[in-house]
Amino acid sequence: MFRLDIITVFPEMLEGPLNCSILKRTQEKGLAEIHLHNLRDYSSDKRHRRVDDYPFGGQAGMVLQCEPVDRAISSLKLQRRYDEVIYTSPDGETFNQAIANQLSMCENLILLCGHYKGIDYRIREHLITREISIGDYVLTGGELAAAVMADAIVRVIPGAIGDEQSALSDSFQDNLLAPPVYTRPSDYKGWKVPEVLLSGHEANIRDWELQQSMERTKRLRPDLVRITFTRNEASNRVL
Ligand code: ADE
Repeated sequence: MFRLDIITVFPEMLEGPLNCSILKRTQEKGLAEIHLHNLRDYSSDKRHRRVDDYPFGGQAGMVLQCEPVDRAISSLKLQRRYDEVIYTSPDGETFNQAIANQLSMCENLILLCGHYKGIDYRIREHLITREISIGDYVLTGGELAAAVMADAIVRVIPGAIGDEQSALSDSFQDNLLAPPVYTRPSDYKGWKVPEVLLSGHEANIRDWELQQSMERTKRLRPDLVRITFTRNEASNRVL
């Protein structure tokens, strides 16, 4: 069973995305548990539930304090062993399919969402095991990044998607973009579905899909073709 504990000052930002579609169904099937923890519950300031303070050095913005973050992480660690304590940050390694696949094989993960100017650096030095960014742009906080990561991780847990093939054939699983897909009607306003897909000839269809994937990857994401070359010379020859 995969368990994800997300620590945040804005749990309401995550409630919607985590309770829809595949994320919801995977939790209902008992294949994953996702728990939201409000950092304010770990504040020692009982009156205002404050969790941030001004930075030393006089810069603008607020910084999440050590104590509530340490208390939140420590209370979780008392209950189980965690594979990783991840901090969402634009400084981190860039999230991708390989990281999603790898994290989906963990049992227990903590995801700490940064906010304001960030968290006291001592937390990053002493408690965080991995920092992950979802791209080279700055978000207001780590919540949207956590939602993106939770979605990508949970959907590749075996059994999360009814037809398991469907997650394996996603774009990026083999460094190839997915081929185009079509549904009925086969002719809409004269816009026709490629003939081969209506032929019922399984081998020709698979061949067509592979050619489409390779053509689209070369045209739209030539950088992936180069990655494929360094990782697997054989598949590059096909490309
Ligand atoms: N927090 C702010 N920006 C972020 C990003 N790009 N990725 C992850 N966490 C973030």
